[in-house]
Amino acid sequence: MVETEEILTETEQSTFNLKSYLQQRKALVEQALDRSISITRPATIYEAMRYSLLAGGKRLRPILCLATCELAGGTIEMAMPTACALEMIHTMSLIHDDLPAMDDDDYRRGKPTNHKVYGEDIAILAGDGLLAYAFEHVALTTKNVAPEKILQVIACLGRTVGAAGLVGGQVLDLESEGKTDLDAETLTFIHTHKTGALLRASVESGAILTGASQTDIARLTSYAQNIGLAFQIIDDILDITATNEQLGKTAGKDIRAQKATYPSLWGLEKSQAQARQLVAEAIAQLKIYGDRAKPLTAIAEFIVTRDR
Ligand code: FPP
Ligand code: MG
Repeated sequence: MVETEEILTETEQSTFNLKSYLQQRKALVEQALDRSISITRPATIYEAMRYSLLAGGKRLRPILCLATCELAGGTIEMAMPTACALEMIHTMSLIHDDLPAMDDDDYRRGKPTNHKVYGEDIAILAGDGLLAYAFEHVALTTKNVAPEKILQVIACLGRTVGAAGLVGGQVLDLESEGKTDLDAETLTFIHTHKTGALLRASVESGAILTGASQTDIARLTSYAQNIGLAFQIIDDILDITATNEQLGKTAGKDIRAQKATYPSLWGLEKSQAQARQLVAEAIAQLKIYGDRAKPLTAIAEFIVTRDR
């Protein structure tokens, strides 16, 4: 176990400006996403795909992918198609999650959800279109990367979205609805699959693209798993403490839906402490990379301090 205080104090002294880093990377990602899909016939489906894909958001997954690729010696250009694919997958999972058959949500990223604007039929298809396009985009537009590494990234993305990842996590989440006596192990299974898997793939794919060693991939993956769980714990806390405006979606849904969450199991304070501990452990994995790890270190800290 790592001392949280010690690590946070050390990195707080660093001069790395996370705010401007995130702003700059987000702008690059927005530009690439905008260029990735143009509107052709039938316009409705492309418009629906673009509506959710370009609705803003933190763009955390693409930024993690770019940052890991750079840490491992690669470039932003090498990783941008994969970074966009990760956001396409994330977006499609949210479009489907918001459907009446799932969480039945009206707002996402501060705007009406996809099905509220385009109808359920088109929203399902917009999700399908984004999912398929994510793979095509990586396969066709990745440059200056060995073909076998591109194939590994595609396999990693496939594993991540399927029953062994997001789909499996969502199924257990649906099956757990209304069960207030859920144990921490089941809750962690849900989150490591539903949310954690894509965050892990964001880091793992960034490393794979550079031809990083298995040791580095394992280290970086461990970082990602820890921040993935911390991210979810903070999400659960914010569902209780933040407003609709802060979150850009409906707050307080977990309690209303009687969902088991980390705060419902452990209380707010212990959940917060647990998230900080996970982030400290994540940061410890990066120590060996020295200054090159500043972005990933700062992103880990941002995950526990964010208010939206
Ligand atoms: C939001 O969780 C939902 C997810 C993180 C992913 C849901 C996954 C699916 C719908 C499977 C998608 C299908 C494929 C093929 C990938 P939440 O409801 O806890 O959070 P929220 O408050 O943001 O809605
Ligand atoms: Mg939801």
